Amino acid sequence: MNSARITGTGSYLPEKVLTNADLERMVDTTDEWITERTGIKERRVAAEDETTCDLGEAASRRAMEAAGVDAGEIDLIIFATTTPDRVFPSTACLLQERLGIHGSPAFDIQAVCTGFVYALSVADKFIAAGGVRNALVVGAETLSRITDWTDRSTCVLFADGAGAVVLSAAEEGGILSTHLHADGAFKDLLTVPAGVSSGYDQVRSGEAYMHMKGNEVFKVAVNTLGSMVDETLAYNGLAKSDVDWLIPHQANIRIIQATARKLRLGMERVVVTVDRHGNTSAASIPLALDEAVRDGRIQRGERLLLEAFGGGFTWGAALIQY
Ligand code: COA
Repeated sequence: MNSARITGTGSYLPEKVLTNADLERMVDTTDEWITERTGIKERRVAAEDETTCDLGEAASRRAMEAAGVDAGEIDLIIFATTTPDRVFPSTACLLQERLGIHGSPAFDIQAVCTGFVYALSVADKFIAAGGVRNALVVGAETLSRITDWTDRSTCVLFADGAGAVVLSAAEEGGILSTHLHADGAFKDLLTVPAGVSSGYDQVRSGEAYMHMKGNEVFKVAVNTLGSMVDETLAYNGLAKSDVDWLIPHQANIRIIQATARKLRLGMERVVVTVDRHGNTSAASIPLALDEAVRDGRIQRGERLLLEAFGGGFTWGAALIQY
């Protein structure tokens, strides 16, 4: 069986920065409230003509360049997003055309903030089964399009961005295990309650927005991410001290700190971008990963624990020997 190694990472953030001070002018909030409750200071918002595929393309090109892999060598594209450019074709197919790739399987995965971990897990299984040598795995979002900019309980949290990795078949190391879960019983705690087959009028009038019961989401997220740590370490027969880096989904600094405490990991071993990126859903983990790879914090051979939680609810983790 092949293992799947990360051979290249890439990311992209839209140029426009939206600060807490900007939000103070838009809704009844303060920099102090946002910073204290979430850890977010600023976030990026896509330009009006910039789409999820645009963001994903820029991140993908950087990941492919870092991996030294040409378009012709990509055998599989998996694109994790909750904010696709079109109902169909999938954003993965749109990206495939941009990159000049023909014939490889390409599909989207929708698991909201856990989307990238889901996509990584599926790509890992394709590589392990043989037949795929290089997979492009992307997480990209334009959450600003489904944000109600008059709702202070959500608009201070979410943002836009993209990250990508190239996963390549290798003899050893790479992804050690992935663990995916979902429970649709929580569907109403974090949702855009409109889509194609239901509530399409809201989509048409541009009012299909995120709704969240923040408090309840917070509690379930902290408990669930804690149990993900136990599950992943037990499966691999490892101790907490065997993890070199935690690369969590970036939703809220308090959730991240709780998971780090559970791992008994100092915050200097946790990659944190939520202060500058906000919650970019499926993009947040590959964005954080790329940042820490490029600035030299993450070194080859180190063990990385990726973990995420999101709407559905969905949750998951990946343990990786980088
Ligand atoms: N600015 C100022 N006040 C705000 C506010 C804002 N942006 N948003 C909400 N408030 C107010 C509320 O109206 C409430 O006021 P009240 O006490 O007068 O009713 C008060 O702040 C407390 O609200 P609450 O929702 O209990 O705050 P909280 O401590 O739970 O923090 C979140 C809110 C959203 C930051 C927090 O619940 C959270 O992070 N939840 C998880 C969200 C998440 O991670 N979602 C994505 C998962 S992938």
